[in-house]
Amino acid sequence: MDELLKNILDRMEGFVPSDKTELESFKVQFLGKKGEITSLFGKMKDIPAEQRKDFGLHVNKLKEVAQQKIDFYFEKFENELFEEKSKIDFSLPANFSHDGGRHPLSIVTNKIYDIFERIGFSVSYGPEIEDDWHNFSALNFAKEHPARDMQDTFFVEKDPDIALRTHTSSIQVRIMENNKPPIRTICAGRVFRNETVTARSHCIFHQVEGLYIDKKVSFADLKQTLMYFAKEMFGEETKIRLRPSYFPFTEPSAEMDISCDICGGKGCNLCKYSGWVEILGCGMVDPNVLENCGIDSKVYSGFAFGMGIERMTQQLYKTKDIRMFFENDIRFLSQFNSFNA
Ligand code: DAH
Repeated sequence: MDELLKNILDRMEGFVPSDKTELESFKVQFLGKKGEITSLFGKMKDIPAEQRKDFGLHVNKLKEVAQQKIDFYFEKFENELFEEKSKIDFSLPANFSHDGGRHPLSIVTNKIYDIFERIGFSVSYGPEIEDDWHNFSALNFAKEHPARDMQDTFFVEKDPDIALRTHTSSIQVRIMENNKPPIRTICAGRVFRNETVTARSHCIFHQVEGLYIDKKVSFADLKQTLMYFAKEMFGEETKIRLRPSYFPFTEPSAEMDISCDICGGKGCNLCKYSGWVEILGCGMVDPNVLENCGIDSKVYSGFAFGMGIERMTQQLYKTKDIRMFFENDIRFLSQFNSFNA
C-alpha cells in the first residue's frame, strides 16, 4: 500500500500544468468522483484495523497536497490572465462603427405621417398583392380602362385577378369596406408598375394615400387640408394650385401643384420654367366607390388624395435620379443621416 501512495505522490509532484485545461484534468484524475485519491477512501474498509488510522492520515495528506497544487496553479493562471489584459491600452481610439440611418424615403414618409397625425388621421396598411376588385373594380375602373393593361400591371402567375398593386388607392377600398365613417386615415406603401427603369421612373416606387369620409365633407375641406399639408411639408411660403384632372375613383378630380421652392415661383430648370411642381392627385370620392365599399353615398361624402414619395423626396432634397433610392449606396444614403428624427 505504501508503494501505491508513494507512486501517487511522486506523480503529483512531478506534474507541472501549462494551462487551466491541464490543471482541470489533474483535478479530475486525482480528486474527481472516480479520481485516484478519492477511490482510496473507498478502500479504507479493506485495511486491517490497526493500520487504518495511519492510512487515513496519509490519504488525507495526499488530498491536501493535490488541493494545494490546484490552488497554487489556479491563482498563477488567473494572475497571468490579468497581466495579459492589463497590457491593453485603453487610451487607444475605438474601432469606428457605422450607425445605421433612416432611408430618405422613410424620413419623408414619417414626416408625412406626422403632419397628418396632428390633424387626427390614423395610419393604415394594406397588402402588396391585390385582387382586381380592390386595385381596380371597386375604384370604378371600367373593364377596358387602359390602366389595367398588361403593360402597366404585374400579374401574379398569369392570373388576371391577382396582381401587385399599382397604387395605394387599393387600401382605401379595404378601409372603407371594414370601417364605418367617420374615416380619417393615411397609408403608405410600395406600389408596382411594369415600366422601364430610368432616371425618372421605376417599376417599384412608394405612395402615400389619404382618405377622409364623413357627413358633409366638401371640396373646400380637401383644399384646406392639402394647403395645410403643403405648408407644413415645404414651408410657410409655399403656394398651392389645383388643376382639374381625371381619376376613375374621384369626381371631381384634381392635381395639386406647389410653387417651386427652388426659384420661389419665378421659373427654373427644376420646374421646367413654369414656377410650379406637380405633387399629388386628389378629388372627392366618387359615390360609386362609396357604394361599392358599403357606404351610403346619400349620407356620406369624402375626399382622397395620393402622392408619390420619391417625387416628394426629390423635391425636398433635390436628388436627380430615382434609381439612387434603390441602390443602397452608402455614399448616397449617409448624406441623409443628419435629417434623422
Ligand atoms: N392612385 C393615383 C395614382 O396612382 C393617385 C391618386 C389620385 C390617389 C387621386 C387618390 C386620388 O386617392 O384621389 O396615380
